[in-house]
This record gives sequence, structure tokens and C-alpha cells, in this order.
Amino acid sequence: MNFVIKNGTLVTGRSMYRADLEVRDGKIVTIGQELDTTGKEIVDASGKYVLPGAIDMHTHMSDPFGGTVSSDSEFTGSRAAACGGVTMMFDFATQNHGMHLLDAIDSKRRQYEGNACIDYSLHCIVTDLLEDDSVLQEFPDVVAAGVNTFKCYTVYKKEGLMVGDEQMPKIMTAAAQAGGMMTLHAENAGMIDYLIERFRKEGKLSPWYHYESRSELVAAEADRRAIAMAMNFNVPLYIVHMDNKEGLLAAARARQEGYPIFVETCPHYLEFTCEVYKRPDAVKYVCSPPIKGEESRIALWHGIGDGAIDTVATDHCPFTLEEKNWGKDDFTKIPNGCGGIENRYPYMLSAAHDGRISYSKAVEVCCENPARIFGCADKGSLEIGKDADIVIYDPEKIVVGGKDTMHTACDHSIWDGYEYHGYPVQTYLRGRLVMDHGEYVGTPGEGQFIRRQPVHYKKQMV
Ligand code: URP
Ligand code: ZN
Repeated sequence: MNFVIKNGTLVTGRSMYRADLEVRDGKIVTIGQELDTTGKEIVDASGKYVLPGAIDMHTHMSDPFGGTVSSDSEFTGSRAAACGGVTMMFDFATQNHGMHLLDAIDSKRRQYEGNACIDYSLHCIVTDLLEDDSVLQEFPDVVAAGVNTFKCYTVYKKEGLMVGDEQMPKIMTAAAQAGGMMTLHAENAGMIDYLIERFRKEGKLSPWYHYESRSELVAAEADRRAIAMAMNFNVPLYIVHMDNKEGLLAAARARQEGYPIFVETCPHYLEFTCEVYKRPDAVKYVCSPPIKGEESRIALWHGIGDGAIDTVATDHCPFTLEEKNWGKDDFTKIPNGCGGIENRYPYMLSAAHDGRISYSKAVEVCCENPARIFGCADKGSLEIGKDADIVIYDPEKIVVGGKDTMHTACDHSIWDGYEYHGYPVQTYLRGRLVMDHGEYVGTPGEGQFIRRQPVHYKKQMV
């Protein structure tokens, strides 16, 4: 628990530098050159980089969806996370219709108790405003309970998850007033329903038509609409899994004008294109929103480079191959979602290794920005006083994704066969070693629920 990491290169969102780092009682207590190690345990990080543990802001564990439940549990998902250098994850507390929000949060927290291998937080999914919109009055209590984000879906009507245009302004303004923020899955439900109906009549049901029914402008329209609403009410908005160029441009324009619009993307939108939906194993890649074309993929990488994208999360939501194959001849029956919780930090660090981005950028979008945006005061950076959530990274280690190297409970991954250049070799959670050279060595249940601070974002003068 108390030790000094010596001879490593520390990576922050701004720079990389040689320094030693001392951990005591789960906190980073000293950073400096040639720290005195008398009587202290030493972790030798010669030739290695010392990074903050990553935060994954978007995961679905044990999530009932698409006629089944996502394959990773709170235990297997958080264990896989630890093995991929993640020390804090966000899952969702979904409000079933008629339910109070704190009950949804308590219920999901109970699922993590005794199972969490890393620290965790929740976003509260709002699906029902209850009588006289009374659920909005619960928002301050939810923020006081440490959950400052209210997720909404503009889709999934038949699943009972969708909120309409008439509800969104109420939710986003109530969230902001309570010291929180709306996070949004944005696609145009009307266009999707119309296209699915049309494709069904035309007998076009292969996975390619999952993409065709939710293509670039289907997402961009909803992005633009939500951004316009947030601008109109001068409230913050966090758009999850941005996948398309036009939506990103709309967000970037609003930000240039000073509006607090935050943007997340995911590795599958950075790595693949919609061409995957023509492959024989296309079902594996079916997620919502689907992966878009090359122009969007390139725009997303630019967005990471120029700061238009704040964060990279995973939207981890895997289903077994058997479940995915339910819809090989009818894309509407494929449970939507792909895994990636263990792959995202290594993927972004591999991009840094290969020179596509800097290591500092990887740390910015996977650690520092998530902590700052979502009010995790003790997380996300190598600074004195922060939690000792630390990853030791070997820039020389090559790992190929697959059953032997990964820890998800799912039987396949879209990242199988991917070659990572450089890899996390140790993960410390508040100073406790939880992953050592690819092995989970922690104790399930040591992950804690993190109460996040209220956030107050307003338009900035530019
Ligand atoms: O395909 C996905 N992303 N499945 C999980 C549910 C959602 O839309 O976030
Ligand atoms: Zn999701």
C-alpha cells in the first residue's frame, strides 16, 4: 500500500517527465526527483511509463437489452477493466417506468456490492417523468447522492427508454439546476422507424441495413436538435458515443461560441467503418449508433486532435455470438452492443505509441477530462492528493487481443486479433495492486462507489 515508484516516466495531460512518485494510504503524496526511499517499498519502473488509471464513462454491465442481458456482469466487467488499466467505471442506473430515481440507483449499487473490482459511479437513466413531472423534483436528491448525470435516449421507444422533444428541455434544465448535466444518446427515432419498416417491406434485413437505417444524418439530426435545445436554455449537454462528422461539427461550433457541449466518442468509431456490416461476421459489429463511414472516422480523429472531442469511452455492452446471430437474417433481432472495456486504454495508448496522438492526449481523453467533466475530484490524474489510481505501462510490450489475453466473459470481441503496441503491465487501485502482467490480482468488492461533486457549466464569454 505504501511505496515509491522509481525511475519511470510520468505522463500527464500536458507533459511527460522523469520523476519518482510516492504512494501512502491510497493517495499520491509526493512527486519529485530522486525521492528518498529509505525503509520504503520500491516499485522499479525503469523503461516504463507511469500513467493515471483510466476512467470508462460509458458501460452496460448485466444490462437487460435486446431480449437478453449483456454478457459481462459487474464482476467480470470490472475485472476486465482492471486488466486494461481502468480504475473507475460508470454504469447506468435505469429508472423503470413508475420508479423513483434513488431506487434505481440503490438497486444498481447493490449489484456492484461485493463485485466491484475497481471504483465505480452511475449515470441515472431517466425514462419516465412520473405524474405532473414530479421526477424532476428528485434531481437534487440524486445529485446529493453523488450522481450528477441524467442520461436520456432519443430512441428505443418500444423498450420504454425513449424521451421525446417535449421532455428533453425539462430534463436538461432540471439537471443543470440541480448541479448536474444531461447525457444523451442522440439518433432520430422517426427516421429509424420509417427506414426499418421500408427495409422490412423490401426484404432488406441483412446487418448492412442496420447501418442504412441509422446512417450519418440520422444521428447528426438528433445531435443538432439536442445541441440547439441546450444552447437555447444555456445548459450543459454531454453527447455520448459521437460517431458522425456533421454532429461533431455542430458540437464544435457551439463550443466555439462558448456553450458547454461535451463530446464523447468510442474506439469502434475510430477504428472501423460501416464496411464491417458487409462482412460475414457483421453481426458482431452491430451496435447503436452503428459505425459510420470513413469521412466520419477521420473527422473523429481530427476531433480528438483539435479538442472537439473531450473523452473516449467504450459503450461496453457485449452479447454472445449465439445471441448476435439471432438476427443474422433480420438485423432488428440483433442485440445491439459491442465490448471494449479492456481494450480502449490500450487502444488509445497504442495510437500514441504509433504516433497518431501523443501519450498526453490519451491521458487527457481517457483520464483527466472524464474526471473533470463529471466531478470526480480525487480521480484521473497523477497529482499530489489524488487517489493512487496508477498504471505502469510497458511501451515495448506487444499484446494481441483474444481469449488468452482478455478477461471479458463474452465469447468473442470485435477487438480479437488487434495488435496493441505497448501495454499496461500493472494497475493500482488506490494504491492496491489489482492487475499484474495480465493477471487480475485484486479482491472483488474492493471497488468503491464514488460520490461525484455537483457541476455547474454555463456559456463562457469568447
Ligand atoms: O449498441 C449499444 N450501444 N447498446 C447499448 C445500448 C445503447 O444504445 O447505449
Ligand atoms: Zn450505451
